[in-house]
Amino acid sequence: MSVYSSSNKKHIAVLGSTGSVGTQVLSVISSYPDQFNVVGLTADSNWERLLSQSNEFCIEWAMLSDQDAKKEAFPMFKREGIDLLESNENLKLRFNQGKLDLLVGCSSGTEALSVIWKALKDGISVALANKEILIVAGHLLKEAARESGAKIIPMDSEHAAIDRALRSIGNHHKELKRIIITSSGGPFRTLPKSDFHSVPMEQVMDHPVWKMGQKITVDSATLINKGFELIEACVLFDVPMDRLDVWIHPEGYVHGAIELTDGHMVWVLSNPDMCFPIGYALFYPDIPFKPKSRFVPFGKRFSFFPPDEERFPALRLARNAFSRSIFSVIWLVGANKVLVDSFLRETIRFVDIISYLEQIMEKVNYLEQLRTDTVDSVQNLLDRVDELTRAFLKHKEINNL
Ligand SMILES: NC(=O)c1ccc[n+]([C@@H]2O[C@H](COP(=O)([O-])OP(=O)(O)OC[C@H]3O[C@@H](n4cnc5c(N)ncnc54)[C@H](OP(=O)(O)O)[C@@H]3O)[C@@H](O)[C@H]2O)c1
Repeated sequence: MSVYSSSNKKHIAVLGSTGSVGTQVLSVISSYPDQFNVVGLTADSNWERLLSQSNEFCIEWAMLSDQDAKKEAFPMFKREGIDLLESNENLKLRFNQGKLDLLVGCSSGTEALSVIWKALKDGISVALANKEILIVAGHLLKEAARESGAKIIPMDSEHAAIDRALRSIGNHHKELKRIIITSSGGPFRTLPKSDFHSVPMEQVMDHPVWKMGQKITVDSATLINKGFELIEACVLFDVPMDRLDVWIHPEGYVHGAIELTDGHMVWVLSNPDMCFPIGYALFYPDIPFKPKSRFVPFGKRFSFFPPDEERFPALRLARNAFSRSIFSVIWLVGANKVLVDSFLRETIRFVDIISYLEQIMEKVNYLEQLRTDTVDSVQNLLDRVDELTRAFLKHKEINNL
């Protein structure tokens, strides 16, 4: 018998529960107490919030990645009878001990790669907001899911919308012509290129539509987030890059669309609120039954523009990286992370993020003989890219992997 309750509830664990998406996932779950049972939560260092969430949802286990936070928090979790796991390895063992129906991946970065891969390998479906993981190791995650029968369910708003649109055409996928991913354009949609060098941190962090974690907010301002989403769509939906378009849609109501061979389009609209993609992924393959709000079009403005790739070269960088090789994609994701960290620590300017990324992507020699056929080998490459990008920031020279 399962170590969890024998009810018909879906048993869920959330990686990165203390973050922007993680807290919204728990908020959606709390609206459906009869449907879901949260059994485990993880965070990096914010143990106070993790403890409060753990108590609210009566979970069995929790994990903190940060060693100091773990040490500090241990007595408090023990007092509450919550098992504070030592490491990712202990977490992976939990997958075999009882029935977990769904793992929600919404931690930032790529730290959770091996955990998510192991869940899929063990037949546990994963609802994934954490796009970086899918981008650098989609080949491994999809293989694990294929072998075990688990499902990778999109929780990124654009991809959940596209998945919804594709489901609406049932078995008619041969009628799919193009996929459209929308973007608000970020806070600098209309800013002249000459002003990019002087934008202050507050403006970068002030996204016009979404309130999100720091890294994705910066990625949305450079538009590399949209580049990542193009790669994410290719991986999730098995479509070639040349059948994907990006539309700038500042109002943020249309999240994704598909164009059919007969010229019709299916657009997916909702108010811009993460509760829609989160509900979609949590209930999958069922459909949520209590929408938080109804979309009312009257009086709303809808506008669409093509992206300006002169001012925002990030889309081109992502397309080029994807067409070149998985090594190139690993460089793109790994180097961008270091550059965004440096911007957030105010050691480089906003304009430097993409300018340095372009220089790095141009100079790197992509050695195809390196391995990417295991999660450890991908993680090793990411660690090495991290090191080399930090060295680049010091010496403005890039060495090969
Ligand atoms: N925010 C959105 O609306 C949105 C929408 C679509 C997709 N996404 C994607 O979802 C992911 C999370 O975004 P977010 O905005 O929610 O980020 P966030 O607010 O920064 O939250 C990140 C979460 O991950 C945890 N974390 C960070 N580093 C970790 C590590 N080394 N080990 C374990 N946990 C770690 C954090 O814990 P602490 O709190 O302890 O630091 C926090 O719980 C990203 O991949 C992002 O691209 C976000």
